[in-house]
Amino acid sequence: MNPLNFPGNLLTTLAATLLLVNVTLAHDGVTHQAPSSDAQPVVTASVAVKPGTSTVWGRDYFPNPTLITQDGEKVRFFDDLIEGKVVAINFIYTSCEELCPLETAKLKRVAEILGDRVGKDIFFYSISIDPDIDTPTVLKAYKKKFNVGPEWPFLTGNRADIIELRKKLGLYIDDIQNNPDNPNDHNLSMIIGNQATGRWMKRSPFEDPYVMATQMSDWLHNWKTASVNTKDYADAPKLKKMVPGETIFRTRCSSCHGFGKDGVGPDLQGVTKQRDPAWLVRWLMEPDKMLAEKDPLAMSLFNRYKVRMPNMGLTTQDVEDLINYMEAETEKLSNGTVASSAGESGE
Ligand code: HEC
Repeated sequence: MNPLNFPGNLLTTLAATLLLVNVTLAHDGVTHQAPSSDAQPVVTASVAVKPGTSTVWGRDYFPNPTLITQDGEKVRFFDDLIEGKVVAINFIYTSCEELCPLETAKLKRVAEILGDRVGKDIFFYSISIDPDIDTPTVLKAYKKKFNVGPEWPFLTGNRADIIELRKKLGLYIDDIQNNPDNPNDHNLSMIIGNQATGRWMKRSPFEDPYVMATQMSDWLHNWKTASVNTKDYADAPKLKKMVPGETIFRTRCSSCHGFGKDGVGPDLQGVTKQRDPAWLVRWLMEPDKMLAEKDPLAMSLFNRYKVRMPNMGLTTQDVEDLINYMEAETEKLSNGTVASSAGESGE
């Protein structure tokens, strides 16, 4: 099993404790029935509904601490960030080298798919869990690495306030949190929701960004805007001629890499020819170790892109499939639209 594949477990445990509405819906992608717009949240034992509040998770449930944006602007969590809004929230810390870049890159793909709705009727927030280090200036530089615009604030604040927020969002697990080796160790902590309707869903950075975008644009908006939204499944690459490796690439790599253009990570067009095969295989299997060992090529790439490619726990089969896929994509590009059966024409 893939060691990073733990969000499934977390989802199950957390769903039980987090009291999400229609949690079963949250587990099975997007092909479920439309929730009725007046659906009331299911109330379970540990969240008390105060009479007179419009949703279970309203002002009485969420704290309203002051947070500070990358520009030093003060905002209130409930009043300014989530009240009445469809939101995606992830908790990060900029010194996190493994999962945080993956999450941020994945969310960025989702934001790109949603296009100009981000900041208008869908809101993205990244909140640091390490406020001592993550000052507004640090967050600003981090945002720049990912090329994230002003419509998506990165926030910091008081440590205790932020822990409280994570607890309220069900994104804080004591066992993981109290790891003495790394006090910042955090579970994959991304959630999307609609404060007004009380629907919240935990998401994993390994999910297909198109699915997450659809969940945010349609499901959480109760399909109100579904027909208006043009950047949707229609834009998703067709799932017809999938070579093995393509699925892995789409779910795990495409948020940082493309072919023919740079992203968070380098352009992968031609990479299978450019790199020594053994180097490439090892890089895909354990980029973290190669960076730790200061492999010269890995370091020079890192110095250019400033983000560490995460170890994604790929199997040797995954790696073989991915290499074949990268080769096939490169060939497609270099042959233009007409696929040649004559094989390589050389560089
Ligand atoms: C969070 C972003 C991220 C993800 C996800 C990611 N990478 Fe990377 N990748 C990078 C960065 C950044 C580099 C440059 C080296 C560094 O800084 O660690 C890189 C480098 C590479 C390289 C070396 C490029 C070269 O020029 O030699 C290859 C190949 C590669 N990635 C393939 C993949 C594949 C395949 C996946 C999916 C299994 C993947 N990456 C997932 C960010 C990412």
